[in-house]
Amino acid sequence: HIRLLPAAVERGLQEVGLKRQQREAEELFQNLAANSPVGVYIVQESKFVYANARFQGFSGYSKEELIGKKAISLVFPDDRERVRENAIAMLKGERLIPYEFRIINKSGEVKWALESVSSIPYQGKRATLGCYQDITQHKLIEEAVKSNEEKYRSLYQEFQAILDAIPDNLLLITPELKIEWVNRVILTSTGKEASEFIGKHCYQIWHSRSEPCEVCPVQRSFLSQQPDFQEIRNRGKIFEIYSVPIIDETGKVKGVVELARNVTEKKLALEEMMNLQDQLRQAQKMEAIGRLAGGIAHDFNNLLTVIQGHTEISLNTLRKDDPLRPRLEEIAQAANRAANLTRQLLAFSRRQVLNFRTIDLNSLLADLEKMLRRIIGEEIELVTSFAEDLGRIKADPGALEQAIINLVVNAKDAMPQGGWLTIRTANIELTESYARTHPGILPGSYVMVAVTDTGIGMSKEIQAQIFEPFFTTKEVGKGTGLGLSTVYGIIKQCGGDIEVESELGKGTTFKLYLPRVDEPAEIIDKKDRFVAEFPGGNETILVIEDDPAVSKVACQILTQLGYTVLVAESSGDALVICEQEKKPIHLILADVVMPKISGPELIERLAKVRQDFKVLYMSGYVDKKFTKKEK
Ligand SMILES: Nc1ncnc2c1ncn2[C@@H]1O[C@H](COP(=O)(O)OP(=O)(O)OP(=O)(O)O)[C@@H](O)[C@H]1O
Ligand SMILES: [Mg+2]
Repeated sequence: HIRLLPAAVERGLQEVGLKRQQREAEELFQNLAANSPVGVYIVQESKFVYANARFQGFSGYSKEELIGKKAISLVFPDDRERVRENAIAMLKGERLIPYEFRIINKSGEVKWALESVSSIPYQGKRATLGCYQDITQHKLIEEAVKSNEEKYRSLYQEFQAILDAIPDNLLLITPELKIEWVNRVILTSTGKEASEFIGKHCYQIWHSRSEPCEVCPVQRSFLSQQPDFQEIRNRGKIFEIYSVPIIDETGKVKGVVELARNVTEKKLALEEMMNLQDQLRQAQKMEAIGRLAGGIAHDFNNLLTVIQGHTEISLNTLRKDDPLRPRLEEIAQAANRAANLTRQLLAFSRRQVLNFRTIDLNSLLADLEKMLRRIIGEEIELVTSFAEDLGRIKADPGALEQAIINLVVNAKDAMPQGGWLTIRTANIELTESYARTHPGILPGSYVMVAVTDTGIGMSKEIQAQIFEPFFTTKEVGKGTGLGLSTVYGIIKQCGGDIEVESELGKGTTFKLYLPRVDEPAEIIDKKDRFVAEFPGGNETILVIEDDPAVSKVACQILTQLGYTVLVAESSGDALVICEQEKKPIHLILADVVMPKISGPELIERLAKVRQDFKVLYMSGYVDKKFTKKEK
């Protein structure tokens, strides 16, 4: 027994020792669990068997309420599946990392938990030890941050969309005048990447400069801290630049937003509209002056015809030495000058009778060249440049010559010290947009003649008035101011247009545009020109012409020129008239070729009846039978 005792004592002692250890361990766990900031619980067979104070507080349930309660019932329904899966995994011996899920506390609040679990033996059976941390606050903050982030992201996207919706160039400029940001319009319009702008100096990018521009609203905004504005023309485009400073908390400008709006088209359209209005006003003014001048000129012309006619008649009836003769001659001269003026006014108001022919402007100018050289004198160099394949035009050759001469005389007057006079011809297409800005002009093919001088030039104010009749800057007696009015009227009457470009001190170019026609040029006899210059008279003319149409035209022209006209349609008629006419017959206008008898033969017979007439033959062609004497 004694031998047995020590063993029993030893066993007893051991048991006492173990119990103590067990008690101590339990005490340690209770203490740890009770003081832990972490919720601790033990679940066995799905039910709580232990919960520390922290977990009780967290769940809202008392210890009594918790013990025996199904653990899963605390889990937020949506998270239960996950929690179950984790529990199964743990039972299978998998190591679990802490995971998050939600529980519903006693008062129904949803709380976030971060939980780590481990499998332990408890009172002889397996159990789950859970350590539990309330992360509801974290979660709320996290969610707030996340929702803020989302808010900012969507705000950012909205802003981006707004910025992209702005069709103007938008930039952010740093105080060093470097580009910090550009909007999408800039990238799409330039076809460049943002990186090609960011960090570069704005003046280098936009103006290819190595230093800041002298005029820049962005720089001004940096200095003034105020928004600014400037219109800038750059590489053929017009921009409206708005600059808005961004001011930081310390009151310093930390950047400037630059908005550059391309207003080129708007501006050009506006300019075109203003221009068009100007042109319209100008055209209306010219129209009104034209009507006035034309009306006066027309009535004056009739009055002058009477004055001239009676003066002429009186002069004819006066004796050579009559003391009234010098006075009547003065009257006749003055009346002629007045007729000349009214003729120019009629030309301006497009009431001149024009004789339209298809002409080649180059040959008309070539014929005129000699005379022009004489007009301009030796101090002025004449240069001509004629287009080779120049189109034809329909115009009155005489009137057109007059127009060119008027321009050349003006050019000469503008170059008192000498200079260069250039006459250039070219084929020109006048476009829709030209027609739009030039009232009365149709788009299409035109022939242009440009007269350029290197003279004194004109200011814009003078240019606006030069086509008005009687506008002159020349001294009294030197110019009447009708030269350009005449040119204007002639060109307009031919369906053309006239343009002037001039710079003070540099010179002037007048451009005449005449509609091009697709016909071969007519050969124009020199005598055809200056139709208006035909002298009139009051003598009697006998017209012998078998073609009634020709005879009618001849009679009308001669009657208009003041002559008394007798008409014979055959050689027999002519004989009768010559025998019976009591008053003198001053001239016989006879066709060269007549039926049965030739013109000269008929004249020979008439000469036997009376001798008071002179003879003028007319013919479409020269007859071989026509002798030298008769010519
Ligand atoms: N080539 C030119 N250079 C500078 N000014 C010009 C030129 N042509 C015309 N002008 C200006 O236009 C005005 C009007 O010209 P216009 O030919 O109608 O009249 P004028 O030459 O003064 O007189 P007129 O031609 O009747 O003798 C001139 O007085 C002059 O001021
Ligand atoms: Mg003139």
